[in-house]
Amino acid sequence: MTDKMRGLASHFIYLQEVPKMKEIHLKSYAKVNLSLDVSSAREDGFHELSTVMHRISLFDRIHIQWIPDQEKDEITIQLQTNRPYLPTDERNLAYKAAQIIADRYAGSSVGGGTLLINITKSIPVAAGLAGGSGNGAAVLIGLNRLWELKLNTKQLCKISEELGSDLPFCVLVQNTRYKAALATGRGEILHPLRTSMKKHIVLAKPPFGVSTKEVFKGIDEYEITERPDNDELIKGLSSGRDDLIYGNMINVLELYTLEHYEPVKKLKEIMRTQTDAQYVLMSGSGPTVFGIYSSEKQARKACNMLRKMRYEAYWASTDGR
Ligand code: C5P
Repeated sequence: MTDKMRGLASHFIYLQEVPKMKEIHLKSYAKVNLSLDVSSAREDGFHELSTVMHRISLFDRIHIQWIPDQEKDEITIQLQTNRPYLPTDERNLAYKAAQIIADRYAGSSVGGGTLLINITKSIPVAAGLAGGSGNGAAVLIGLNRLWELKLNTKQLCKISEELGSDLPFCVLVQNTRYKAALATGRGEILHPLRTSMKKHIVLAKPPFGVSTKEVFKGIDEYEITERPDNDELIKGLSSGRDDLIYGNMINVLELYTLEHYEPVKKLKEIMRTQTDAQYVLMSGSGPTVFGIYSSEKQARKACNMLRKMRYEAYWASTDGR
């Protein structure tokens, strides 16, 4: 081998050995609560829940880039979003999710480097749609794939629990083909559901957020007289029987939010009486209210009307990736 060839060969080996930048694109979906029942507060401050959640087609885009650096042992996380008011440090669930995984795997199987996370948000923030939780779940799923950690959905759900009550559900519906689940316990015990629900959804919210903590604290003062029968609701979802679904679409948190936030009550009334919605309910602790429509045309019409009334409104569906 000539000197020139030897030089080229070593150059080739060098190129091969430099760790390459890796990237992944993910969609992070919103959810609605088709029902939500709460029993008394637990000693740890959380409430026992029984809620049927359904993934919907509204999503944020998550782009993760991993730039490995052989000189480093630690992992630097940089987060950017298209919403300037959102925190980009440990107050953001996407950042926190990356931190948890990085703390476990930096230096060992993964090595050091820089993680760039870019979130393009479409899901409204602090709206009862698990937008932030979905972003956290997507980062866990993305890093599992990017770093080939081989964690299964159950393991990812377990890790996600410490980030928030809605995270395990978001992991489930973003990492499997399931689109719905009954969540019990704090929200972390999941019973995946087969659903044939194919409906159009309109989501609308007044121009403010509502604190989940405040609503859960407030609900303790109420006597809950009407609760969903989630077994019946689940039967409705698997058989496509709307009567069983709508008869049990009850969110007990409405008791608090509708009384304390008049614009949410008003919005629900508008959607119930002035659109073709088959059913209207508040999602999570609010303030988003969603209507269910049997046709795309009706949903679009309702969405346009609400936008003209200056509500932040979105059109989505219960199926579709
Ligand atoms: O788990 P996550 O951070 O989403 O919860 C936010 C707040 O909502 C909690 O701090 C708690 O006050 C309340 N919460 C609750 N019971 C649950 C879930 C949430 O009381 N099952």
